[in-house]
Formats: sequence, C-alpha cells, structure tokens
Amino acid sequence: MPVSGVPLQEADAHGAALFQPYKVRGVVARNRVVIAPMQQYSAVDGHAADWHVVHLGRFALGGAGIVFVESTAVEARGRNAHGDTGLWKDSQIEPLRRVAKVLKDNGAVPAIQLGHTGRKGALQPPWGGHSHLNKDDAARGEGAWPVVGPSALPVGEGWQVPAALGTDEVKALVQAWGDAAHRAAQAGFEMLEVHGAHGYLIHQFLSPISNARTDEYGGSVEYRHRFALEVAEAVRSRWPAHLPLFWRISLADLDHELSMDELVSLLRALKLRGVDVVDCSSGGGISNYPTDGPRVPRGLEFRAGDGQKIKAMTGMDVMAVGLIIDPQHAEAILNADQADLIAIGREALFNPNWAVHAQISLGANKDYELWPRQHSSYLAKRAGLADPLRNTVLQRDASRMLSSTPRVAA
Ligand SMILES: Cc1cc2nc3c(=O)[nH]c(=O)nc-3n(C[C@H](O)[C@H](O)[C@H](O)COP(=O)(O)O)c2cc1C
Repeated sequence: MPVSGVPLQEADAHGAALFQPYKVRGVVARNRVVIAPMQQYSAVDGHAADWHVVHLGRFALGGAGIVFVESTAVEARGRNAHGDTGLWKDSQIEPLRRVAKVLKDNGAVPAIQLGHTGRKGALQPPWGGHSHLNKDDAARGEGAWPVVGPSALPVGEGWQVPAALGTDEVKALVQAWGDAAHRAAQAGFEMLEVHGAHGYLIHQFLSPISNARTDEYGGSVEYRHRFALEVAEAVRSRWPAHLPLFWRISLADLDHELSMDELVSLLRALKLRGVDVVDCSSGGGISNYPTDGPRVPRGLEFRAGDGQKIKAMTGMDVMAVGLIIDPQHAEAILNADQADLIAIGREALFNPNWAVHAQISLGANKDYELWPRQHSSYLAKRAGLADPLRNTVLQRDASRMLSSTPRVAA
C-alpha cells in the first residue's frame, strides 16, 4: 500500500488500531506492534549474551508491544548454528531471565520462540557464509554435528543426510519441547511461540516431502500431524494456563504441498490443544520453493489475504508478518480484520524505533508517552516550541522514518 501523505497533527492515541492494547489470556500488550523472532547467532553454548539484551532492549525502548526472542533450541542438535540461543538446560535460564526483565521493565511483553531445526541444522552464521559447517569451522572448534529428521532425507544435494529419529527419540523430543517451555516460563517470558514453519523439524514432520515414516508419526495426514499436536500438548502442559501460546506456520506451503483445508484442520486441532495465535509467516518452506510463482508475490501486501481466511476459518487470532514496512499498511491490515497483530522483522533492524515513529506517522502520538520516560518530556517540550519551529520539528518527526525507508519493489 503506497503511503499517501503524513498527518501532522497529534491526534488521540486511541485513534489508531495499531496502538490499541491487545489482550490474550491473562496478558495485555500495550499495542499491536510485535518484533518478529530473529536469530542473532550470538549465543555461547546456547546462553544468551549481552548482545541479546541490547539488541532486544532497543525494540522495547522503541515502543513495540511484544518483543520475541529468536528461535531458541529445545535441544543442542536442534540449533541452526552454534550461536543459537537454547533452553535445553537450566544454566540457559538465567541469561534469558535478564532479557525478559529488560523487555518487561521497558513496557514490552517478553516473548520467546522455541524451535528445532531438524535436518536444517549445523550451518555457519550468515557472516560465515550460511553454508554447511566445514573443516575450517571444525578447526576453530565449531564443527558440524549430526543432524536428525523424521526420515533420512536431506534438504537437497550437498546437505547433510539426517539420521531418522526412532519412535522413542521422537517421544523424547516431545518431552524436550515441554521442558524448554517450562524453562521459558521460569525465565519470565509471558508469550511463547512454537516454530512450526520454515522447513524446521515440526514442519518436516508435517510435510510428505521430508516425512516418509512408516510408524505412527508418518504416512496419513493424521499421522504426519501427530508430532505437532503432541508438541502442542507437551508445551501447553508445561506452560502456565494464563499465558498465551503462538504457533508459526509457513503460508508458502499453500502454493506447493498443502491445501488450505489441511492447514486449517491442523490449526483447529492446535486450537483445541490451547494454541491461541497463528503467526502467519509469509515465506520459507520445506524445500526450495520457487519464489517467482504467481501465488508467491513479494509485494507489500504479502499474504494478508491468507491470514484473513485463516482467521475466519479457525476463529484464532492471527499475526501478520512479512515485508510490512509502512505504518499505514499495518493499520490497513488491522482495520480490514486480516490480522490482530503486526510483526516487524527487518524493518525493525533498520529502525528499532519503528513503533514510536509509526505512532507519530499515524497521528496517534500523545505527549510522546510511548517513548521511555527518560526521553518523553524532552521530546514533548521540543514539540511545544513556538511556531514555526514547532511545525518544522513535528514535520521532520513525522516524515523522517517514511522518507528514509528504502521502498521494496513489488
Ligand atoms: C536476521 C533474521 C533472523 C531471523 N530469525 C528467525 C527466527 O529465529 N525464527 C523465525 O521464525 N523467523 C526468523 N526470521 C524471519 C522473521 O521472523 C520474519 O518472519 C521475516 O524476516 C519476514 O518479516 P520482515 O519482512 O518484516 O523481515 C528471521 C529473519 C531475519 C531477518
């Protein structure tokens, strides 16, 4: 959606849908802006570092309602790279507790995604090439580990062939998800998301492309769904009832291997097991999907329509994500009832103050109250300067983010 003009007047903060509080179970977020989970490859043996406190803390200071910690591995084999955060052992709780506290102290709901990469693990960080860990990496003490999956089917040529998990190992993994959820609660997180997308382990079980099992976890749709449903049950049983549970799906599946009916039946079953919110990730899948097909548009309206269908067909809350950049676009998605929450990924890396800037550009800023109190009164005073200086300041505030954001070609 093109941005058509920037409102200058500072209207009532309750005027914009994006800045309405969001309540789910016993948790209230101050607004609908969510920072999407984003791996940082900066943990040490799965322990969050100072980097995570600073990086994530910026988004809380920047006014986001909910801030997600990156995909955090439920077991060491389930890491994407050595630097992934983890919650497979108790010593990993304390550093994440620090992150959760900083987020909460600064007004955001502390949230965390749990994940397991399955056959897509043991990779280099993006700055190391994001390819398979090799001999040079091993020489630095960061070699590959054997990855696992539903079946011994690699992602593609050149990828590690995963060891097919035995039935008992699958059951142990279900338990590992529950244990990690328990640790997330101990660390002080108030929202939890299961990573069921992007071709990672849960997704690998769901898809016939990666799941050729002949036990109760493979074969028919019902059997392929079993692992996901057992994970949902295990997580729900170890995650407090007053705290909400999110589930991330890959909408790209709809183009290639999954019907909307199958997806909706999975989501309805997850809802029965206590999943509250569907995080409708636009991209990423089980195999290397073509990205130029007619149903995989990479425009700024990415996938909101599918989110709306899911919302209507499941009655679940939906989080929209994927190339949402403009506040006006986010506002339109909410107003059209296509989603309940708006997740921002790369745009937040570009501008960690996206939420507070969005509030200004939607004309919903009131006395800079969403800004840290250490800053707000100074900004309000600055805005109270005599005309025409005041107009100049407000105009710059309102247009800065939009004019400095590089547009993405549709
Ligand atoms: C640096 C980076 C790390 C990411 N890590 C994760 C992750 O840990 N879990 C996940 O589900 N998605 C991850 N993603 C995907 C984002 O959550 C988001 O869905 C995606 O970037 C699309 O949103 P955007 O267009 O607003 O960036 C990552 C994206 C980026 C840019």
